[in-house]
Amino acid sequence: MFHNPSPPPLILRGGDCFTLRYINTIHPEKQPTTHPLDNKNSMYYYTQCSMKGVILAGGSGSRLMPNTKVTNKHLLPVYNKPMIYYAIETLLRAGIRDILILPGKEQAGGFAQLLGSGSDFNANFTYRVQDSASGLAYAVGLAEPFVGQDCFMVVFGDNIILDDLTRDVAEFKAGAKVFLTKVPDPSRYGIAELAGEKVVRIIEKPTNPPSDWAVVGAYLYDGRAFEFIRGLTPSARGELEITDLNNKYIDSGAMQAGFLKEPWFDAGTHESLVEAAAAIRDMRRPVERIKTVNSPAPKVAAGVILANSRAYLPKFFETLRAQDYRNLELIAFDSNTETENEDLAFIKANFPEVTILRAAAPAGTSAAHNQIIQQAALQNAEFYLTLHPEMILEQNFVSELVNTALRDPQCAAVGGKLKQWHLFSERAYGGAGTTNFLESTGVLITREHRFINRGEGEIDHGQYDQDCAVFGVSGTAALYRISALKSIAFINESGRAEYFDELLIFKYKEDVDVAYRLQLAGYRALYNPRAVAYHDYTSIHHGRGMLATVRRRRQKTRRYKEWSFINHHIILSKYLGGLSGGVVRSTFLYELKALIYSILLEPYLLPQFLRLAKMSRQIAQRKLQLQRYAPNFTHIERWMV
Ligand code: DAU
Repeated sequence: MFHNPSPPPLILRGGDCFTLRYINTIHPEKQPTTHPLDNKNSMYYYTQCSMKGVILAGGSGSRLMPNTKVTNKHLLPVYNKPMIYYAIETLLRAGIRDILILPGKEQAGGFAQLLGSGSDFNANFTYRVQDSASGLAYAVGLAEPFVGQDCFMVVFGDNIILDDLTRDVAEFKAGAKVFLTKVPDPSRYGIAELAGEKVVRIIEKPTNPPSDWAVVGAYLYDGRAFEFIRGLTPSARGELEITDLNNKYIDSGAMQAGFLKEPWFDAGTHESLVEAAAAIRDMRRPVERIKTVNSPAPKVAAGVILANSRAYLPKFFETLRAQDYRNLELIAFDSNTETENEDLAFIKANFPEVTILRAAAPAGTSAAHNQIIQQAALQNAEFYLTLHPEMILEQNFVSELVNTALRDPQCAAVGGKLKQWHLFSERAYGGAGTTNFLESTGVLITREHRFINRGEGEIDHGQYDQDCAVFGVSGTAALYRISALKSIAFINESGRAEYFDELLIFKYKEDVDVAYRLQLAGYRALYNPRAVAYHDYTSIHHGRGMLATVRRRRQKTRRYKEWSFINHHIILSKYLGGLSGGVVRSTFLYELKALIYSILLEPYLLPQFLRLAKMSRQIAQRKLQLQRYAPNFTHIERWMV
């Protein structure tokens, strides 16, 4: 028996585009997954986006001969599905379902046979044949009767784009937009010459590339595109070039640029086709458990900072003991300077395998992390897993995080899906006090230079079930690559490396500070939704606006607010200077409102400015060390929401 799919729950996705997703409540195991590579992905999208999409699926396919002698290259398989499925999914993911497919005339029948009306994809497909391979801009021109004067999106049938472009589509009103990604072989593509984030010229397959930012095969245009195309002249190879069309938009000052976050492939050559298929196979491969007995699985040091946590420790350590990842060292840092205390007595009696580190002097959270990392390095650990004691982990938590990290050498941090837990309200929530409310699925950075837990306070209904790159991961449970932490460490006044900045007081934003430096250094932070943990966190945050912030602040103690005030300003002073005028302005405006709020309602925070002033020398010293990342600050802005 299946739940009637109508009416499906409504999930709004920004702007005037929205997506309806079918949720099977009777057979939850049959829930469709939202993984961008899932071959049924498109089956359950019902979109109401007015923008139309165009897929170019012609051309001679000469670079793939003889595979393309009797078939069109877009019908060739890329791992588990035909190449053109990826382009269709790029459009469907962005909310576009009215799609014109432009095959070459030779094998046009194959497309209709494979794709039909589009009903399998919950989309409408229209076909128009390209009589000749006269160039990409010529092919785009054939879409004029289909799109009229409206804005539209073009995707190349041989491009595999995994980013979610919903927001770009929703926000696009006029002009043109290209999407860029860094490539190792720039002479193969259209390459953007950039001035900051602005595209000043695009050069097709340059011999002396001005950058390594390739223009990928996805473009947003307004109705002027057709007028521009009519004015183009054929290039030296006799084709109307899409790069010439894009340069017309640049000349008219109407070109925008987006930067991809996910991997991208152009599957148009034998080499790239195999590479794309292999990469997709690897991404889709069911997460294998790392062999834990007598295996080279890297050592993970899980560190927990104790703070009168006795009530939580039994469940916490039980779930760590139950992990299916075996090369796990447990380190507990006791920040309580009393010689004997309940936490220690409990651990010694029940979990003797845990290494205990004692604070010689009262140590803040960052100092505790740094001491655990040093200990972890001594024990040859490759990864450091930060944990809070007020949490429980699902059995595969560690192995999932490690698997994600191992697949990408540039990945320095991995986080999982953190949900809210109420240990002491078991009766109210039933079972083990676990809830279906999210706490974090990664950390976002805003243009006001605030940091937000993605999904916080939302009910988990699968909306964050895609693996993806994020700005940062929540330090509540984060796996860090120790070598990466070493490379971004500050060297403090006494010459000691501080992976976590010890200027930051208590546990507030030290994870964000690390995330910032990892991004600046060119590392990636990744989110794995299959790694699930539950965290008992007293203040549940709902909403993002100023009012939500005020509500949230009222739940916090005065001491906590003082700490967070200091840490927030240390982070601002360290990083804001590297960012563009626009971000500085929006941050300043926000801070001004926060200052007025403090003067009126929390005046006790103001003396903290004096405390900050006393730290200015140390802050300046850290800023100096950040100078090596100066050119990379534009990369941070790409993450801003
Ligand atoms: O993949 C991104 C690159 O695509 C861009 O960086 C370049 O600026 C752009 O010119 C294009 O270069 P390619 O050499 O990769 O283009 P290709 O000939 O492979 O064509 C791209 C897609 O358009 C492909 O799916 C085939 C289709 N096509 C091509 C031609 C020449 C048509 O539908 N009709 C055509 O006439």
